[in-house]
Amino acid sequence: MNIILIGPPGSGKGTQAKILEERHNMKQLSSGDMLRAAVSEGTEIGKKAKSYMEAGELVPDDLVVEIVTDQIEKLGDKGFILDGFPRNVHQAEVLDQMLDQRDRNIDRVLVVEVNDDVLVERIAGRYTCAQCGEGYHDKFKQPEKEGVCDKCGSTEFIRRPDDNPDTVRNRLAVYHEQTKPLVDYYKEQGKVRVIDGEQPIEEVTKALEQAMS
Ligand code: AP5
Ligand code: ZN
Repeated sequence: MNIILIGPPGSGKGTQAKILEERHNMKQLSSGDMLRAAVSEGTEIGKKAKSYMEAGELVPDDLVVEIVTDQIEKLGDKGFILDGFPRNVHQAEVLDQMLDQRDRNIDRVLVVEVNDDVLVERIAGRYTCAQCGEGYHDKFKQPEKEGVCDKCGSTEFIRRPDDNPDTVRNRLAVYHEQTKPLVDYYKEQGKVRVIDGEQPIEEVTKALEQAMS
């Protein structure tokens, strides 16, 4: 099964994609993670993407499409969860063409809805393990042993540079203007299921799994 997770910044796309990846033998493909890796490795794509990401704007389509479609190619027949891609109608059209040429398709588009005020609180408290990337939150998801990653034991954690209040406001505006219209694009294909993303993490997972079956 191939699915797309659509939702505003902080709605839990990354959190849920990681859970579904483990439980359902699917591969998470996060365009944001791929771009952050390109920036930290200093690749050509990373150098071009950096300023857009810092401002909370979308990175130009050609750069993103290239890195995501490369990863899909590498998967073979394994199912995938797209997290953060596509993010506008043009990216969705390019994805559909690419999958069509390979006799593959998107089965479900799961839209995770969360109100803007909740999102700001979630993003402000978010941090990740510097070593394995496990996600945490100051209030909602702390490591079992304070200051030590549950998954890998590392004691180093990082916060994203685009999680500051000004950039977050712009990321939300960009979501409403450019990404929301995607929902109608996929509604026309009959693939959309809307999930209440304000429930506890496990409840959101259950709702997503129901929508996938
Ligand atoms: P990207 O990395 O995709 O960021 P985003 O869409 O802004 O989403 P986030 O990663 O902020 O949030 P999330 O929904 O994954 O939430 P999370 O699970 O972490 O994109 C970053 C930038 O890259 C963009 O601004 C753009 O510049 C560029 N980019 C990426 N893709 C692109 C594309 N296709 N085209 C062009 N540019 C692109 O959860 C948030 C926090 O809340 C966590 O701490 C978590 O523990 C907590 N939490 C999660 N679920 C719950 C819950 N149910 N209850 C309580 N807390 C919860
Ligand atoms: Zn870790």
